[in-house]
Amino acid sequence: MSQKHKDKVEKQFTKTAEAFAEFAVRDSAEVTAEKVQFSKPQPDAVALDVACGPGAFVLALAPKVLFAYGIDLTAEMVRRARALQTDRGIANAGFSRGEAEQIPFGDASFDLVSCQCAMHHIQKPEIVLREMVRVMKPEARLMLIDPLGPESDSKFELYNRIEVIRDPSHTASLRLTTYLALFDKLELETVSQTVKRRLRSFNHWMLRAGLKPGDKRYQEARKLLEDSANGDRAGVSPEPQQDDIQIVHNEGMFLLTRRAVA
Ligand SMILES: C[S@@+](CC[C@H](N)C(=O)[O-])C[C@H]1O[C@@H](n2cnc3c(N)ncnc32)[C@H](O)[C@@H]1O
Repeated sequence: MSQKHKDKVEKQFTKTAEAFAEFAVRDSAEVTAEKVQFSKPQPDAVALDVACGPGAFVLALAPKVLFAYGIDLTAEMVRRARALQTDRGIANAGFSRGEAEQIPFGDASFDLVSCQCAMHHIQKPEIVLREMVRVMKPEARLMLIDPLGPESDSKFELYNRIEVIRDPSHTASLRLTTYLALFDKLELETVSQTVKRRLRSFNHWMLRAGLKPGDKRYQEARKLLEDSANGDRAGVSPEPQQDDIQIVHNEGMFLLTRRAVA
């Protein structure tokens, strides 16, 4: 990862750490519980969540495993995760700063390695996936969750353009077909896979990125979104709702393991 991009990510998530925690409606207790269940946690497992943000997933996972770690590039996110851990009184979890491109743990350290809603901030997803595989024990599971970009080229371009206006540390939301090709290249096999239609409030989604109505980037993104409605040209099915717009993110959820040697 370039230093320039690293600075962009940290700046964005330091500035928005509070808003992110407050408006992270996508991380309702029910959705977090659904993700924990999807990861098929085992009581004797040692887990690592890469780019853990304010720690909601790690702390929901911890009661189901032996120990759950979270790493994140942004110091403020790690601070918030530790504070949430103290509030919840959870002993078997730990958080530290760390880069997804250079995971600060040895080979074959974990039974479960996850990364959610962070791949779209990564410049070279293959490097991060390789790192995640490196720290997996031989029989370990890898869980990846991220909003999927549209398959159509024009929708993909507009979808990601709106994302970058909202959050300059966004790189690209990859397509389902790109992920499947990457998993194949890395010799990963699917244990389970699903695509969830997550309904979002545009206004909350913007607030999570630190933007409110009246802000220049809010207006720019909103105009592009409204103009895209005819023909759903950004692939997010926008529906006006009073002063808000409902949008849909297609969230890919993948649980993978190393391909068995024939
Ligand atoms: C949208 S937030 C998601 C946080 C959390 N996984 C969740 O779902 O709530 C993205 C997080 O990825 C972190 N991040 C982005 N690039 C990273 C990198 N290369 N290494 C580690 N963390 C990174 C950011 O600091 C931020 O906390």
